[in-house]
Amino acid sequence: MKVLIIGTGLMGTAFKSAYPEAILCGRKDLDITQENAIAHVIDPIAPDVMINCAAYTNVDKAESEQSIANQINGTAVGYLAKYAAKNDITLIHFSTDYVFDGQGKEPYSENTTPSPINAYGYSKWLGEQALAKYGQSTYLFRIQWIYGKNGNNFIKAITKKATETGNLAVVNDQWGSPTWNQDLAEKILFFLRITPGSPKEKPPYGIYHVASQGHTNWHDFAAEILSQTQIPSTLTAVTSDEMPRPAKRPPNGRLNCEKFARHAPLPLPWTTALSRYLHETGTPT
Ligand SMILES: NC(=O)c1ccc[n+]([C@@H]2O[C@H](COP(=O)([O-])OP(=O)(O)OC[C@H]3O[C@@H](n4cnc5c(N)ncnc54)[C@H](OP(=O)(O)O)[C@@H]3O)[C@@H](O)[C@H]2O)c1
Repeated sequence: MKVLIIGTGLMGTAFKSAYPEAILCGRKDLDITQENAIAHVIDPIAPDVMINCAAYTNVDKAESEQSIANQINGTAVGYLAKYAAKNDITLIHFSTDYVFDGQGKEPYSENTTPSPINAYGYSKWLGEQALAKYGQSTYLFRIQWIYGKNGNNFIKAITKKATETGNLAVVNDQWGSPTWNQDLAEKILFFLRITPGSPKEKPPYGIYHVASQGHTNWHDFAAEILSQTQIPSTLTAVTSDEMPRPAKRPPNGRLNCEKFARHAPLPLPWTTALSRYLHETGTPT
């Protein structure tokens, strides 16, 4: 099966590492906002599956760059979906818990109507709608709180600050599931039946929520990081109101992943995944 991965960030590189025979295409090869470039670049590759990991992902900056965020996360997803439908290619795309306002009391299921909490969430919702309008054979995975060895992440930020200052304040009123990019990529490839030896019968196309097993808040995630890395530090819990950011975050971002779990194993429990990540990468400071 010929797999094309678009986007060389956290998830794109994780998919490439989990399935090295895939072709990885970065922004310099293909800017997804240039509709004509899509056929020009992808026609010669002729993939069976496209995994779109390209996105505008700066959540705070999106508040002041709504138009560019909408173009990349919304309009361009429509271009990819149209191209995939025309060429009989299965399209994989990603969205976020930020398409919800986070006021619900239970983990969100796939059939909850979106009500985006911020500009980034709105742009991702536009992408979801473009996928539904123009796409045919599509899987949309809503994911959250991704970390991995490439680039900055929460774990690196916490260990760095703890080492440098010995003092940390982290919000304890936003809930979700920290998810390791490598673990997530492996579970999604199995779900898609791309992993060699996976079952033949494919899950139905549609929307799936997938994240690490279990839920936590950022403060407790930080506490677990400090405990596993054994970095001594004073950790204080604060509220989101005490630590405002340009973009609002959902208090309840928990995703109900039961639908995904009917077709593939879920990513590891979040504390186990953290420990495997730290074991593989060493304590990042
Ligand atoms: N990370 C998370 O916690 C998280 C949570 C929920 C959902 N998601 C979704 O998961 C997907 C993968 O995210 P990620 O974490 O891998 O993001 P990421 O690390 O920020 O990578 C995004 C990639 O998209 C590329 N890109 C941006 N604009 C592009 C364009 N016009 N054409 C081609 N490439 C472009 C970026 O290139 P440059 O480096 O050149 O900008 C970057 O390589 C996205 O759909 C994201 O919205 C992520």
